[in-house]
Amino acid sequence: MSKIILTGDRPTGRLHIGHYVGSLRRRVQIQNEGDYDKMFVFIADAQALTDNADNPDKVRENVIEVALDYLSVGLDPTKTCIFVQSQIPELCELSFYYMNMVTVSRLQRNPTVKTEIQMRGFGGESIPVGFFTYPISQAADITAFEATIVPVGEDQKPMLEQTCEIVRRFNHIYGDTLVEPRILLPDNTACLRLPGTDGKAKMSKSLGNCIYLSDDAATLKKKVMSMYTDPAHIHVEDPGHLEGNAVFTYLDAFCRPEHFAEYWPEYESLDALKEHYTRGGLGDMKVKKFLLKILDAELTPIRERRKQFEQDIPAVYEMLQRGSEEARTAAMRTLNKVRQAMRIDYFNDTALIQAQAKKYRQG
Ligand code: TRP
Repeated sequence: MSKIILTGDRPTGRLHIGHYVGSLRRRVQIQNEGDYDKMFVFIADAQALTDNADNPDKVRENVIEVALDYLSVGLDPTKTCIFVQSQIPELCELSFYYMNMVTVSRLQRNPTVKTEIQMRGFGGESIPVGFFTYPISQAADITAFEATIVPVGEDQKPMLEQTCEIVRRFNHIYGDTLVEPRILLPDNTACLRLPGTDGKAKMSKSLGNCIYLSDDAATLKKKVMSMYTDPAHIHVEDPGHLEGNAVFTYLDAFCRPEHFAEYWPEYESLDALKEHYTRGGLGDMKVKKFLLKILDAELTPIRERRKQFEQDIPAVYEMLQRGSEEARTAAMRTLNKVRQAMRIDYFNDTALIQAQAKKYRQG
């Protein structure tokens, strides 16, 4: 079986370092290792509209931001097909057929939909139908490209489960047609859900606790230096706590052994640093300065690449258009298989035409 990797992001803002450690970094690594048949990365603008119906400009303007973020982290359109979801109408048709495979109560039980309903306060009946059914459209996104591996954050687990159920139900009814995908989660718990700079559980634009990939050096410094650490660690001598300490969580996500040799040779490993912090006698400022050096080294090349791509915006849109054309060809192939399996390809179905003709000749 071929190995097809697919993932996407909603264009509701620039991408931040939570996206980076949660998925982007892994995508680029997979892309460059080359052990796959095809990789698709897409901008989920149609999905973003399901809960931004009153704010289409936000979605529209962030398409290019996300594209720039993709290019700046090293996604390479000569290797990876980068496309825009709304430009693939085949996805709508697939969604429409998949709607027959899912019940209302199953959608209501989808934990992501459930929490998002609560979070957005739509409450019961007032939830837009498009939003309510976006797990179905996400199943179309994944299956249209016959994705076998979907690298996403932990929050997308229910979406993948829902997709697998749709695939199994479809294949059961219409015969083996769709491919069941597998989720690929980050391997390190810090990367699974990177907290905000304020220590809150999630980095989110509305909380204002994000470090964006496109932040300049001065902004990065300001954000790191004011990060949440351990409120009980008041004096340097006090023992520090690692639990809930955002600076250490970021180190878990970004720090590599060679960073010590390069920036802080007094310590030989992150474990040694943590041990000293926990024992007491190590100030937060020192740890933050170390984290800043690591982040700066990681983000500077990304920032610089972004600056270059920003010089030719029309070329970025052209890249998206070419990617969307390629993606459409792939989605069309799957849609044809689906129509054939569903036996709604009447005009190509000579057996059907002949059988009906025969029936009426005899009658
Ligand atoms: N739901 C994803 C998010 O919120 C975006 C997305 C849409 C996606 N369709 C997808 C991710 C298909 C992976 C596969 O970020």
